[in-house]
Amino acid sequence: MLSVKPPPEQAPGGLPPRLTRVNEPRGKIGIVGIGYVGLPLAVAFAEAGEDVVCVDSDTAKVEALAAGRSYIEDIPDAVLAPLAERLHPTLEYAELASCEAVVVCVPTPLTNSREPDLAFLLGAAESIAANLRAGQLVVLESTTYPGTTRERLVPILEQSGMTAGADFHVAFSPERIDPGRTDYTVRTTPKIVGGVNAASAERAEALYGRICDEVVVVSTPESAELAKLLENIFRSVNIALVNELSQLCDRLGIDVWEVIDAAATKPFGFMRFEPGPGMGGHCLPVDPFYLAFKAREADFYPEFVELAGKVNQTQPAFCVERVERALNDAGKPVRGSKVLLLGASYKAGIGDTRESPALKIVRMLRERGGEVSYHDPHVAELAALELRSAELEPALAGADLVAIVTAHPEVDYRAVIDSAALVLDFRGVTRGIDADNLIRL
Ligand SMILES: NC(=O)c1ccc[n+]([C@@H]2O[C@H](COP(=O)([O-])OP(=O)(O)OC[C@H]3O[C@@H](n4cnc5c(N)ncnc54)[C@H](O)[C@@H]3O)[C@@H](O)[C@H]2O)c1
Repeated sequence: MLSVKPPPEQAPGGLPPRLTRVNEPRGKIGIVGIGYVGLPLAVAFAEAGEDVVCVDSDTAKVEALAAGRSYIEDIPDAVLAPLAERLHPTLEYAELASCEAVVVCVPTPLTNSREPDLAFLLGAAESIAANLRAGQLVVLESTTYPGTTRERLVPILEQSGMTAGADFHVAFSPERIDPGRTDYTVRTTPKIVGGVNAASAERAEALYGRICDEVVVVSTPESAELAKLLENIFRSVNIALVNELSQLCDRLGIDVWEVIDAAATKPFGFMRFEPGPGMGGHCLPVDPFYLAFKAREADFYPEFVELAGKVNQTQPAFCVERVERALNDAGKPVRGSKVLLLGASYKAGIGDTRESPALKIVRMLRERGGEVSYHDPHVAELAALELRSAELEPALAGADLVAIVTAHPEVDYRAVIDSAALVLDFRGVTRGIDADNLIRL
């Protein structure tokens, strides 16, 4: 059971006089954390005509935004240019004073022991509390476990001496951004909101109604927090299923891609997921640990969720074993062999390398003595691995094996097969091609 605190008492006769009502004059919108989530949100509000105070602790991001330079691939500089007057990047939390609403989009990673690391969130909350004004709405968008908004954020904000739900409003609204996706935008993706009380939910609904076609109101922040985790864990579990199937198909000598393509012809009751070299990104590998942490507090062990994480984590090692086998069949050991990885980011079309399986594959191949290089049109360097993206043509010509790790659309895979000695495709992008030097997952 979640420990859900009842909403704060309402003053008799409705809202206390200090509260900003939905139809009161608008102030600016504050965004705290202007990264992958915060910047597109700031742009959406600015495009809707709002003035947006963009607070970030990273001087480089604040300076870039002030100069009209984007650091997020989905937001070209040309999108920022006409919004320059409305976007106000700053390092100073004090500038949130002029805001009617403050939306928090800071990272929620894991500690080294794989527990939720709320340090960014709690730090941001302290700074917001020190500048909080009566009537403001604070919305948390960072992905987190159910209970975070009420149990962790609200007590810090109340250090201001004001009461959540009475003097200021608080809600949780999960971000659903999918970097690289163009068919759904902030406007066309329904937005879930859950307030700590009805008035908070109403404020949040009105706020997002300005930039989203559909706002879905749930009864508590806990439901909204858990809905986000469910969305991501649903993907994690289904990816684990097809990753495990890829390992089984390898044993049975069946083409996993053909099996999935065939199953996907069923027009109902089946949803297509694809196997690959492992799961990456800031969300899918991280979120199950947030849920498991909260579940443990309630003496519950979500085995299904944890099993999915475990299966997905074994996938890079399985891929390295496939590299070893492919080289072995060509009469070569990994030690001393040149292996070129095509793609370093965790997904096609973007340059985000957070938790990317490519990083694990590089490390494991190096441990076995392999000489690893990579080519990625979206990732110029992997500083932690002291690697820079190699030029494609000479790298292809010099490699003993080329492993397709990310399905970047701008790479000509037919040409890769034609010029490489041996190609191992972990993404199924070579489906339909038959060649003696080609092996698929
Ligand atoms: N990236 C995605 O695709 C995605 C999708 C859905 C949800 N989310 C969630 O959104 C949240 C943010 O993720 P992101 O990908 O935008 O992260 P990010 O690292 O791209 O951006 C976060 C920003 O917050 C800033 N920051 C950190 N602490 C701060 C502080 N105390 N004050 C001000 N700024 C601070 C950082 O400098 C950074 O610019 C996470 O909880 C993540 O799980 C991300």
